[in-house]
Amino acid sequence: MFDDQLQDNQLQVIGITRKFGSFTALDDVSIDVRRGEFLTLLGPSGSGKSTLLNILAGFDAPTEGRLVQDGHDVTRKPAEARNFGMVFQGYALFPHMSVARNVAFPLRVRKVPESEQKRRVAEVLERVGLSAHADKLPRQLSGGQQQRVALARALVFSPDVLLLDEPLSALDKNLREQLQLEFQRIHREFKTTFIFVTHDQTEALALSSRIAIFNRGRLMQMDGPTDIYTRPSSRFVAEFLGQINLFRVENVTSAKDGISGRFGECLLAAPGHVRDPAWVGVRPENMRLKATQPDASQNAVPVTVNAVSYHGPTVLLSLTAATDGTTNVLSATMPASEWTDFDAQKPHWLCWSRDDSLVFPQENEAEQGA
Ligand SMILES: Nc1ncnc2c1ncn2[C@@H]1O[C@H](COP(=O)(O)OP(=O)(O)OP(=O)(O)O)[C@@H](O)[C@H]1O
Ligand SMILES: [Mg+2]
Repeated sequence: MFDDQLQDNQLQVIGITRKFGSFTALDDVSIDVRRGEFLTLLGPSGSGKSTLLNILAGFDAPTEGRLVQDGHDVTRKPAEARNFGMVFQGYALFPHMSVARNVAFPLRVRKVPESEQKRRVAEVLERVGLSAHADKLPRQLSGGQQQRVALARALVFSPDVLLLDEPLSALDKNLREQLQLEFQRIHREFKTTFIFVTHDQTEALALSSRIAIFNRGRLMQMDGPTDIYTRPSSRFVAEFLGQINLFRVENVTSAKDGISGRFGECLLAAPGHVRDPAWVGVRPENMRLKATQPDASQNAVPVTVNAVSYHGPTVLLSLTAATDGTTNVLSATMPASEWTDFDAQKPHWLCWSRDDSLVFPQENEAEQGA
Protein backbone atom coordinates (compact mmCIF):
# COMPACT_ATOMS: atom_id res chain seq x y z
CA MET A 1 0.00 0.00 0.00
CA PHE A 2 2.75 2.39 1.02
CA ASP A 3 4.82 1.49 -2.06
CA ASP A 4 1.84 2.04 -4.31
CA GLN A 5 1.29 5.44 -2.82
CA LEU A 6 4.92 6.39 -3.28
CA GLN A 7 4.82 5.40 -6.91
CA ASP A 8 1.46 6.98 -7.33
CA ASN A 9 2.66 10.51 -6.61
CA GLN A 10 4.72 11.56 -9.57
CA LEU A 11 4.70 15.22 -8.70
CA GLN A 12 4.22 16.80 -5.30
CA VAL A 13 3.29 20.44 -4.94
CA ILE A 14 4.12 21.20 -1.32
CA GLY A 15 2.85 24.40 0.28
CA ILE A 16 3.49 26.59 -2.76
CA THR A 17 2.91 30.33 -2.36
CA ARG A 18 3.62 32.86 -5.11
CA LYS A 19 3.59 36.55 -4.32
CA PHE A 20 3.87 39.41 -6.80
CA GLY A 21 4.84 42.31 -4.55
CA SER A 22 2.17 42.35 -1.82
CA PHE A 23 -0.31 40.40 -3.97
CA THR A 24 -0.65 36.69 -3.26
CA ALA A 25 -1.39 34.86 -6.52
CA LEU A 26 -1.00 31.38 -4.96
CA ASP A 27 -1.59 30.77 -1.29
CA ASP A 28 -0.12 27.65 0.32
CA VAL A 29 -1.19 25.18 -2.39
CA SER A 30 -0.46 21.47 -1.91
CA ILE A 31 -1.33 18.84 -4.52
CA ASP A 32 -0.13 15.31 -5.12
CA VAL A 33 -0.26 14.56 -8.83
CA ARG A 34 -0.74 10.86 -9.56
CA ARG A 35 1.15 9.20 -12.35
CA GLY A 36 -0.92 8.95 -15.52
CA GLU A 37 -3.87 10.96 -14.28
CA PHE A 38 -5.81 13.69 -16.08
CA LEU A 39 -5.79 16.45 -13.51
CA THR A 40 -7.71 19.61 -14.29
CA LEU A 41 -7.05 22.96 -12.63
CA LEU A 42 -10.32 24.84 -12.67
CA GLY A 43 -11.21 28.27 -11.34
CA PRO A 44 -12.34 31.78 -12.20
CA SER A 45 -10.13 34.20 -14.08
CA GLY A 46 -7.24 35.36 -11.91
CA SER A 47 -7.48 32.43 -9.47
CA GLY A 48 -3.84 31.40 -10.05
CA LYS A 49 -4.14 28.50 -12.51
CA SER A 50 -1.57 29.75 -15.04
CA THR A 51 0.70 30.88 -12.23
CA LEU A 52 0.77 27.34 -10.88
CA LEU A 53 1.27 25.82 -14.34
CA ASN A 54 4.22 28.16 -14.98
CA ILE A 55 5.80 27.11 -11.70
CA LEU A 56 5.31 23.44 -12.62
CA ALA A 57 6.89 24.10 -16.03
CA GLY A 58 9.87 25.86 -14.48
CA PHE A 59 9.13 29.23 -16.13
CA ASP A 60 8.59 30.76 -12.70
CA ALA A 61 9.64 29.93 -9.13
CA PRO A 62 7.48 30.00 -6.00
CA THR A 63 8.03 32.49 -3.18
CA GLU A 64 7.62 29.63 -0.71
CA GLY A 65 7.10 25.89 -0.97
CA ARG A 66 8.58 23.03 -2.95
CA LEU A 67 8.02 21.00 -6.07
CA VAL A 68 9.11 17.38 -5.89
CA GLN A 69 9.27 15.12 -8.95
CA ASP A 70 9.69 11.39 -8.31
CA GLY A 71 11.21 12.13 -4.93
CA HIS A 72 13.65 14.82 -6.20
CA ASP A 73 13.32 18.49 -5.40
CA VAL A 74 13.04 20.37 -8.73
CA THR A 75 11.80 23.71 -7.34
CA ARG A 76 14.82 25.67 -8.56
CA LYS A 77 15.61 23.53 -11.58
CA PRO A 78 15.29 25.27 -14.98
CA ALA A 79 12.54 24.31 -17.44
CA GLU A 80 15.00 22.37 -19.65
CA ALA A 81 15.90 20.10 -16.75
CA ARG A 82 12.30 18.86 -16.45
CA ASN A 83 11.01 16.57 -19.13
CA PHE A 84 7.64 18.36 -19.34
CA GLY A 85 5.64 19.10 -22.49
CA MET A 86 3.59 22.26 -22.79
CA VAL A 87 0.55 23.20 -24.88
CA PHE A 88 -0.75 26.76 -24.74
CA GLN A 89 -3.99 28.45 -25.67
CA GLY A 90 -2.55 29.81 -28.93
CA TYR A 91 -1.10 27.12 -31.15
CA ALA A 92 2.35 28.76 -31.25
CA LEU A 93 3.36 26.72 -34.30
CA PHE A 94 6.23 27.85 -36.53
CA PRO A 95 4.33 29.27 -39.51
CA HIS A 96 7.01 28.63 -42.12
CA MET A 97 7.62 24.98 -41.12
CA SER A 98 5.56 22.01 -42.31
CA VAL A 99 3.51 20.04 -39.79
CA ALA A 100 6.17 17.31 -39.73
CA ARG A 101 8.99 19.81 -39.11
CA ASN A 102 6.99 21.53 -36.38
CA VAL A 103 6.45 18.22 -34.62
CA ALA A 104 10.10 17.20 -35.09
CA PHE A 105 11.35 20.44 -33.52
CA PRO A 106 11.72 19.21 -29.89
CA LEU A 107 13.60 16.15 -31.22
CA ARG A 108 16.00 18.32 -33.24
CA VAL A 109 16.66 20.42 -30.12
CA ARG A 110 17.39 17.20 -28.24
CA LYS A 111 19.70 16.06 -31.07
CA VAL A 112 17.77 12.86 -31.71
CA PRO A 113 19.16 11.11 -34.85
CA GLU A 114 17.33 11.95 -38.09
CA SER A 115 15.96 8.45 -38.73
CA GLU A 116 14.61 8.21 -35.19
CA GLN A 117 13.03 11.69 -35.60
CA LYS A 118 11.22 10.50 -38.75
CA ARG A 119 9.94 7.39 -37.05
CA ARG A 120 8.66 9.22 -33.97
CA VAL A 121 7.04 12.05 -35.94
CA ALA A 122 5.22 9.57 -38.18
CA GLU A 123 4.03 7.63 -35.14
CA VAL A 124 2.74 10.62 -33.20
CA LEU A 125 1.03 12.13 -36.27
CA GLU A 126 -0.70 8.81 -36.82
CA ARG A 127 -1.89 8.80 -33.21
CA VAL A 128 -3.36 12.30 -33.40
CA GLY A 129 -4.91 11.55 -36.80
CA LEU A 130 -2.81 13.94 -38.89
CA SER A 131 -0.71 11.60 -41.06
CA ALA A 132 -2.31 12.94 -44.23
CA HIS A 133 -1.34 16.52 -43.33
CA ALA A 134 2.37 16.06 -42.56
CA ASP A 135 3.60 18.23 -45.45
CA LYS A 136 1.14 21.10 -45.02
CA LEU A 137 1.91 24.45 -43.45
CA PRO A 138 0.01 25.40 -40.28
CA ARG A 139 -2.09 28.02 -42.09
CA GLN A 140 -3.42 25.29 -44.41
CA LEU A 141 -5.01 23.56 -41.41
CA SER A 142 -8.17 24.22 -39.39
CA GLY A 143 -7.93 25.50 -35.80
CA GLY A 144 -8.63 22.05 -34.39
CA GLN A 145 -5.98 20.46 -36.60
CA GLN A 146 -3.45 23.11 -35.59
CA GLN A 147 -4.13 22.41 -31.93
CA ARG A 148 -3.56 18.70 -32.59
CA VAL A 149 -0.21 19.55 -34.19
CA ALA A 150 0.69 21.48 -31.02
CA LEU A 151 -0.34 18.44 -28.98
CA ALA A 152 1.72 16.11 -31.20
CA ARG A 153 4.74 18.40 -30.83
CA ALA A 154 4.39 18.32 -27.04
CA LEU A 155 4.01 14.52 -26.97
CA VAL A 156 6.70 13.55 -29.50
CA PHE A 157 9.55 13.50 -26.97
CA SER A 158 7.57 11.34 -24.48
CA PRO A 159 7.33 13.95 -21.72
CA ASP A 160 6.89 12.80 -18.12
CA VAL A 161 4.09 15.31 -17.68
CA LEU A 162 2.08 17.28 -20.22
CA LEU A 163 0.98 20.77 -19.13
CA LEU A 164 -1.93 22.26 -21.05
CA ASP A 165 -3.06 25.85 -20.47
CA GLU A 166 -6.57 26.35 -21.90
CA PRO A 167 -5.66 24.53 -25.14
CA LEU A 168 -9.23 24.49 -26.43
CA SER A 169 -10.43 27.97 -25.55
CA ALA A 170 -9.71 29.49 -28.99
CA LEU A 171 -11.98 26.96 -30.72
CA ASP A 172 -15.71 27.14 -31.39
CA LYS A 173 -18.07 25.01 -29.33
CA ASN A 174 -18.50 22.06 -31.72
CA LEU A 175 -14.81 21.74 -32.47
CA ARG A 176 -14.07 22.08 -28.80
CA GLU A 177 -16.35 19.18 -27.89
CA GLN A 178 -14.85 17.04 -30.65
CA LEU A 179 -11.31 17.82 -29.48
CA GLN A 180 -12.24 17.07 -25.86
CA LEU A 181 -12.97 13.50 -26.94
CA GLU A 182 -9.71 13.41 -28.91
CA PHE A 183 -7.73 14.64 -25.91
CA GLN A 184 -9.34 11.98 -23.76
CA ARG A 185 -8.44 9.24 -26.24
CA ILE A 186 -4.89 10.54 -26.68
CA HIS A 187 -4.43 10.71 -22.91
CA ARG A 188 -5.58 7.09 -22.62
CA GLU A 189 -3.26 5.92 -25.38
CA PHE A 190 -0.12 7.80 -24.34
CA LYS A 191 -0.65 7.17 -20.61
CA THR A 192 1.17 10.47 -19.92
CA THR A 193 0.16 12.58 -16.93
CA PHE A 194 -1.93 15.52 -18.16
CA ILE A 195 -2.30 18.71 -16.10
CA PHE A 196 -4.94 20.70 -17.86
CA VAL A 197 -6.08 24.26 -17.13
CA THR A 198 -9.54 25.46 -18.01
CA HIS A 199 -12.24 27.73 -16.71
CA ASP A 200 -14.91 25.70 -18.47
CA GLN A 201 -16.78 23.59 -15.90
CA THR A 202 -18.33 21.20 -18.42
CA GLU A 203 -14.94 20.55 -19.98
CA ALA A 204 -13.46 19.81 -16.55
CA LEU A 205 -16.27 17.38 -15.67
CA ALA A 206 -16.05 15.61 -19.02
CA LEU A 207 -12.30 15.11 -19.21
CA SER A 208 -10.72 14.78 -15.81
CA SER A 209 -9.81 11.96 -13.50
CA ARG A 210 -9.61 14.64 -10.78
CA ILE A 211 -10.46 18.33 -10.62
CA ALA A 212 -8.67 20.89 -8.43
CA ILE A 213 -10.79 23.99 -7.92
CA PHE A 214 -9.06 27.30 -7.23
CA ASN A 215 -10.33 30.61 -5.97
CA ARG A 216 -8.17 33.62 -5.24
CA GLY A 217 -4.98 31.59 -5.22
CA ARG A 218 -6.31 28.94 -2.86
CA LEU A 219 -7.05 25.30 -3.56
CA MET A 220 -10.68 24.98 -2.51
CA GLN A 221 -11.24 21.27 -3.22
CA MET A 222 -9.72 18.43 -5.18
CA ASP A 223 -11.70 15.29 -6.04
CA GLY A 224 -13.01 13.15 -8.88
CA PRO A 225 -15.70 14.81 -11.07
CA THR A 226 -18.62 12.91 -9.53
CA ASP A 227 -17.50 13.50 -5.95
CA ILE A 228 -16.83 17.17 -6.45
CA TYR A 229 -20.20 17.68 -8.17
CA THR A 230 -22.27 15.66 -5.72
CA ARG A 231 -20.32 16.52 -2.56
CA PRO A 232 -18.93 20.06 -2.89
CA SER A 233 -17.27 21.04 0.36
CA SER A 234 -18.14 24.73 0.16
CA ARG A 235 -20.76 27.01 -1.27
CA PHE A 236 -18.15 28.43 -3.63
CA VAL A 237 -17.43 25.03 -5.20
CA ALA A 238 -21.14 24.14 -5.37
CA GLU A 239 -21.93 27.36 -7.23
CA PHE A 240 -18.85 27.31 -9.44
CA LEU A 241 -19.33 23.76 -10.66
CA GLY A 242 -22.89 23.59 -11.94
CA GLN A 243 -26.03 25.24 -10.64
CA ILE A 244 -27.41 25.06 -7.15
CA ASN A 245 -30.48 26.41 -5.34
CA LEU A 246 -29.71 27.79 -1.90
CA PHE A 247 -32.07 28.18 1.04
CA ARG A 248 -30.98 30.22 4.03
CA VAL A 249 -32.06 28.21 7.07
CA GLU A 250 -32.26 29.32 10.70
CA ASN A 251 -32.77 27.63 14.07
CA VAL A 252 -30.60 24.79 12.87
CA THR A 253 -30.77 21.71 15.07
CA SER A 254 -28.51 18.68 14.81
CA ALA A 255 -29.52 15.05 15.11
CA LYS A 256 -27.47 11.91 14.63
CA ASP A 257 -28.23 11.59 10.93
CA GLY A 258 -28.09 15.25 9.95
CA ILE A 259 -29.55 18.68 10.55
CA SER A 260 -32.82 20.46 10.12
CA GLY A 261 -33.49 24.15 9.90
CA ARG A 262 -36.31 26.58 9.25
CA PHE A 263 -36.81 28.21 5.90
CA GLY A 264 -39.86 30.42 6.41
CA GLU A 265 -42.68 28.04 7.37
CA CYS A 266 -40.83 24.99 6.11
CA LEU A 267 -38.52 22.63 7.91
CA LEU A 268 -35.68 21.50 5.65
CA ALA A 269 -33.58 18.45 6.55
CA ALA A 270 -30.16 17.46 5.24
CA PRO A 271 -27.41 14.99 5.99
CA GLY A 272 -24.22 16.43 7.48
CA HIS A 273 -23.50 18.86 10.26
CA VAL A 274 -23.39 22.62 10.23
CA ARG A 275 -23.78 25.49 12.65
CA ASP A 276 -26.68 27.93 12.70
CA PRO A 277 -27.39 29.82 10.44
CA ALA A 278 -26.61 27.77 7.32
CA TRP A 279 -27.44 27.16 3.69
CA VAL A 280 -29.28 24.12 2.43
CA GLY A 281 -28.47 23.58 -1.22
CA VAL A 282 -29.94 21.32 -3.89
CA ARG A 283 -29.08 20.81 -7.56
CA PRO A 284 -31.89 21.74 -10.02
CA GLU A 285 -32.07 18.21 -11.48
CA ASN A 286 -32.87 16.73 -8.08
CA MET A 287 -36.07 18.76 -7.63
CA ARG A 288 -39.62 17.94 -8.71
CA LEU A 289 -42.74 20.10 -8.91
CA LYS A 290 -45.84 18.69 -7.22
CA ALA A 291 -49.41 19.94 -6.98
CA THR A 292 -49.94 18.44 -3.53
CA GLN A 293 -47.84 18.81 -0.42
CA PRO A 294 -45.71 15.68 0.09
CA ASP A 295 -45.32 13.99 3.48
CA ALA A 296 -42.64 15.15 5.89
CA SER A 297 -40.07 12.61 4.65
CA GLN A 298 -39.34 14.98 1.75
CA ASN A 299 -38.15 18.56 1.76
CA ALA A 300 -40.75 20.81 0.19
CA VAL A 301 -41.13 24.53 -0.37
CA PRO A 302 -44.28 26.23 -1.69
CA VAL A 303 -43.48 28.00 -4.95
CA THR A 304 -44.85 30.18 -7.72
CA VAL A 305 -43.90 29.06 -11.23
CA ASN A 306 -42.57 32.00 -13.23
CA ALA A 307 -41.58 30.32 -16.47
CA VAL A 308 -41.43 26.90 -18.10
CA SER A 309 -39.14 26.21 -21.03
CA TYR A 310 -38.99 23.01 -23.01
CA HIS A 311 -35.49 21.81 -23.99
CA GLY A 312 -36.16 18.48 -25.69
CA PRO A 313 -35.12 15.89 -23.10
CA THR A 314 -35.66 18.28 -20.19
CA VAL A 315 -38.02 20.98 -18.99
CA LEU A 316 -36.54 23.97 -17.19
CA LEU A 317 -38.58 25.75 -14.55
CA SER A 318 -37.98 29.16 -13.06
CA LEU A 319 -39.70 29.53 -9.70
CA THR A 320 -40.03 31.78 -6.67
CA ALA A 321 -40.31 30.44 -3.15
CA ALA A 322 -43.56 31.71 -1.70
CA THR A 323 -42.56 31.42 1.98
CA ASP A 324 -39.47 33.51 1.62
CA GLY A 325 -39.73 37.21 2.35
CA THR A 326 -37.06 37.86 -0.24
CA THR A 327 -37.34 37.05 -3.92
CA ASN A 328 -35.46 33.80 -3.97
CA VAL A 329 -35.37 32.73 -7.62
CA LEU A 330 -35.02 28.99 -8.00
CA SER A 331 -34.49 26.74 -10.96
CA ALA A 332 -35.46 23.14 -11.44
CA THR A 333 -34.72 20.75 -14.30
CA MET A 334 -37.15 17.90 -14.83
CA PRO A 335 -37.09 15.08 -17.38
CA ALA A 336 -39.58 15.95 -20.14
CA SER A 337 -41.00 12.41 -19.81
CA GLU A 338 -42.18 13.25 -16.27
CA TRP A 339 -43.64 16.60 -17.19
CA THR A 340 -47.40 17.12 -17.27
CA ASP A 341 -49.03 20.46 -17.77
CA PHE A 342 -50.05 22.19 -14.61
CA ASP A 343 -52.50 24.81 -13.42
CA ALA A 344 -50.55 27.98 -12.65
CA GLN A 345 -53.47 29.23 -10.49
CA LYS A 346 -53.05 26.40 -8.00
CA PRO A 347 -50.39 26.21 -5.28
CA HIS A 348 -47.38 24.01 -5.99
CA TRP A 349 -44.54 22.53 -4.01
CA LEU A 350 -40.98 22.13 -5.06
CA CYS A 351 -39.83 18.86 -3.50
CA TRP A 352 -36.60 16.99 -3.09
CA SER A 353 -35.13 14.22 -1.05
CA ARG A 354 -33.28 14.92 2.15
CA ASP A 355 -30.36 12.86 0.81
CA ASP A 356 -29.95 15.20 -2.17
CA SER A 357 -29.53 18.18 0.16
CA LEU A 358 -26.15 19.75 0.79
CA VAL A 359 -25.30 22.01 3.72
CA PHE A 360 -22.86 24.88 3.91
CA PRO A 361 -21.98 27.21 6.76
CA GLN A 362 -22.66 30.92 6.33
CA GLU A 363 -19.38 31.89 7.92
CA ASN A 364 -16.17 32.68 5.99
CA GLU A 365 -18.09 33.51 2.83
CA ALA A 366 -16.46 36.85 2.15
CA GLU A 367 -13.12 35.14 2.49
CA GLN A 368 -14.09 32.41 0.05
CA GLY A 369 -15.52 34.88 -2.41
CA ALA A 370 -18.89 33.14 -2.47
N1 LIG B 1 3.93 38.57 -13.41
C1 LIG B 1 2.93 38.99 -12.65
N2 LIG B 1 3.00 40.15 -11.96
C2 LIG B 1 1.99 40.56 -11.18
N3 LIG B 1 0.83 39.89 -11.02
C3 LIG B 1 0.68 38.75 -11.70
C4 LIG B 1 1.70 38.24 -12.56
N4 LIG B 1 1.26 37.05 -13.08
C5 LIG B 1 0.02 36.87 -12.59
N5 LIG B 1 -0.34 37.87 -11.76
C6 LIG B 1 -1.61 37.98 -11.03
O1 LIG B 1 -1.86 36.77 -10.35
C7 LIG B 1 -3.24 36.43 -10.40
C8 LIG B 1 -3.38 35.04 -10.96
O2 LIG B 1 -3.08 35.06 -12.35
P1 LIG B 1 -3.18 33.79 -13.28
O3 LIG B 1 -2.69 34.18 -14.61
O4 LIG B 1 -2.51 32.64 -12.61
O5 LIG B 1 -4.75 33.53 -13.31
P2 LIG B 1 -5.57 32.41 -14.09
O6 LIG B 1 -6.29 31.61 -13.05
O7 LIG B 1 -4.70 31.69 -15.04
O8 LIG B 1 -6.65 33.29 -14.87
P3 LIG B 1 -7.26 33.14 -16.37
O9 LIG B 1 -8.39 32.15 -16.25
O10 LIG B 1 -7.77 34.51 -16.66
O11 LIG B 1 -6.18 32.70 -17.29
C9 LIG B 1 -3.91 37.52 -11.24
O12 LIG B 1 -4.55 38.42 -10.38
C10 LIG B 1 -2.78 38.15 -11.99
O13 LIG B 1 -3.04 39.50 -12.24
MG1 LIG C 1 -4.58 31.56 -17.13
